[in-house]
Amino acid sequence: MSVAKKEYKRITVKTLVDMKANGEKISMLTAYDFTMAKIVDGSGIDVILVGDSASNVMAGHETTLPITLDQMIYHASSVVRAVERALVVVDLPFGSYQSDPKEALRSAIRIMKESGGHAVKLEGGKEVKESIKRILNAGIPVMGHLGLTPQSIYKFGTYTVRAKEDEEAIQLKQDALMLEKAGCFAIVLEKIPASLAKEVAESVSIPVIGIGAGNGVDGQVLVLHDMIGMTHEFHPRFLRRYMNLYEEMTTAISQYVGDVKSEDFPNDEEQY
Ligand code: KIV
Repeated sequence: MSVAKKEYKRITVKTLVDMKANGEKISMLTAYDFTMAKIVDGSGIDVILVGDSASNVMAGHETTLPITLDQMIYHASSVVRAVERALVVVDLPFGSYQSDPKEALRSAIRIMKESGGHAVKLEGGKEVKESIKRILNAGIPVMGHLGLTPQSIYKFGTYTVRAKEDEEAIQLKQDALMLEKAGCFAIVLEKIPASLAKEVAESVSIPVIGIGAGNGVDGQVLVLHDMIGMTHEFHPRFLRRYMNLYEEMTTAISQYVGDVKSEDFPNDEEQY
């Protein structure tokens, strides 16, 4: 079991780098709204990611592509209002940074100004290097994201494990070094072989946070709704469900329906 070694009142990008240096694993979960973010932050999470997975989880889209910058800012500002301790990282959504570095900077500034988030995350390697540098020059911390990058799903064609072949693995290692050199404070590695993720984590001094990337990295991230079992149709091997909220909620809601129909609710104590 990974145990926090030091009490941190407020997590910053520097705290995460210190955690890696001290061998303390980093915990990260997504949140997209005030109520969930309050619970997640109060439970001692280090990083809250306002992921563009909100496109799937909150809006029911098949991919992360449709979510807009305005919608990300709405989710992120709700999360920021709830958080007292965690670092809040906000995804730059598809279409808000790919065309050129100036557009990337404008989008990152909007996120920081309008949501109050603490850092941004974007997907990709060498193709987004200039955008990363431009954002960092404005004083905005950037988290990279390599491996399975869901915004490129139509290029990949499937959500299967990435970088199993040498050519892609070599490119991923080069991209990770580039992200570190460019000044990113951390990198997410999604769905790649555990041995490759470990090698990457050992080759850079910034934290590497994995999802489906094994235990040899510096921290783990999961989508909150998957981890608490609110979503129940998604069964990737890397997912550990800590609750079955789908079942618990369905049971509770059907009990409520029954109580209303049978006039058991409200009872004498539950009225004025
Ligand atoms: O959007 C998201 O939730 C993410 C995580 C899967 C890392 O990017």
